Amino acid sequence: MKLWAGRFSKETDDRVNSFNSSLSFDKRMYAHDILGSTAHAKMLAATGIISDDDLKKITDGLKGILSDIESGRLTMDNDAEDVHMFIEAELTKRVGDAGKRLHTARSRNDQVAVDIRLYLRDEIDEMTALLKELVGVIIKKAKEHADTIMPGYTHLQRAQPITFGHHLMAYASMLMRDMERLSECKKRMNVLPLGSCALAGTTYPIDRQMTKELLGFDSVCSNSLDGVSDRDFCIELASVISIAMMHLSRFSEEIILWCSWEFKFIELDDGFSTGSSIMPQKKNADVTELIRGKTGRAYGDLNTLLSMMKGLPLAYNKDMQEDKEAIFDAVDTFKECLVTFIPMLDTMTVIKENMRSAAARGFINATDLADYLTKKGVPFRDAYKISGSLVAYCIKNNTVLENLSLETLREYCDKFDGDVFDAISLETCVNARTSEGGPSPASVIKQISLAEDFIKNY
Ligand code: ARG
Repeated sequence: MKLWAGRFSKETDDRVNSFNSSLSFDKRMYAHDILGSTAHAKMLAATGIISDDDLKKITDGLKGILSDIESGRLTMDNDAEDVHMFIEAELTKRVGDAGKRLHTARSRNDQVAVDIRLYLRDEIDEMTALLKELVGVIIKKAKEHADTIMPGYTHLQRAQPITFGHHLMAYASMLMRDMERLSECKKRMNVLPLGSCALAGTTYPIDRQMTKELLGFDSVCSNSLDGVSDRDFCIELASVISIAMMHLSRFSEEIILWCSWEFKFIELDDGFSTGSSIMPQKKNADVTELIRGKTGRAYGDLNTLLSMMKGLPLAYNKDMQEDKEAIFDAVDTFKECLVTFIPMLDTMTVIKENMRSAAARGFINATDLADYLTKKGVPFRDAYKISGSLVAYCIKNNTVLENLSLETLREYCDKFDGDVFDAISLETCVNARTSEGGPSPASVIKQISLAEDFIKNY
């Protein structure tokens, strides 16, 4: 029998029951539903809307339900429409009329809104902790490789020399911004919708400030229609996750490239690689490919939420039940990716010699050669042209700039002296890039210490 049986003369069709039910995916919010209901009941008793005796029965009953679900003694059956109705019906079964009083001055519309916020608030803390761990691993690796020379790329063409520590710290910067975005999102999410009721508040003398305090919210939603129909916080979180997944995906793509024989800059631990069913020589970076693939899935969740909300009139509409699978999937996916990516990165081996020899080919000191001439008074544009002609000469003669003789160099410009060879050595090129945020070991150490300060506060 349905809770709304009074109004209806017929049972709900079974097909509607299963179509309508969200229990299979919202049951994961049971603890947060009980937390919200307990605070609501305390407020109802404090304002004299229910008796202290009822409050005791309700809170004891809810505690019992929580521990029974947790121990597996109580399983959430699929006949209930959702987790809210399941718990309320179970409570009433256990404590009688007191259970039926719990829903006074409340609707499932504000109940579900508060549950999702409570649930996602905890998830944000977990995602933040994982991101912090990842940034920690990146910092550790960057410290080990603050002076490991590698080619920096633009257009995937070798461009200028950098250090692997520098390259890694670029990702730390992105991920720290993601941590900030999560905090911002949590700030806007941490507002109490309960007390909005179905849409138009209530005539009961409720105390929303008290419920807010009990549940640790920063403030209350200032408009009851908005309180029950806002899902911005889900959309915002899905956006933050999408951006962070995009960062993981770029990192993954680079790892895939670096693992290939064409690069061989790194080797993943066997525990984090996979083989082929037919090609015995294969060692694949499946984890990173999956992360790249799952990034599309997170974008899909964001799109689901945006599209689901775009045409909805105020206030609550059942369409909004679709919010949960999308946002839960985005959160689960992101956490799963982080949990695997962190130890994979931690255990990878960096093949310094290959980075070094790739840096030694590809003329990545050509800018430094031009800069050398510029410092000797040659206008940069002329120096650029001379350096370019020397690169062309090297390509034709299958050699590199640092192997040219002073004599050859002087044929192109009489400003070249013996000090040119030191000026264009890879070490000099990297060490001299001391500008703030640059790749020199000294600059990387500075970036690392800024990052360490940042994560300390999280
Ligand atoms: N299961 C519903 C949801 O997730 C709860 C709110 C239902 N409210 C209603 N009036 N049907 O959105």
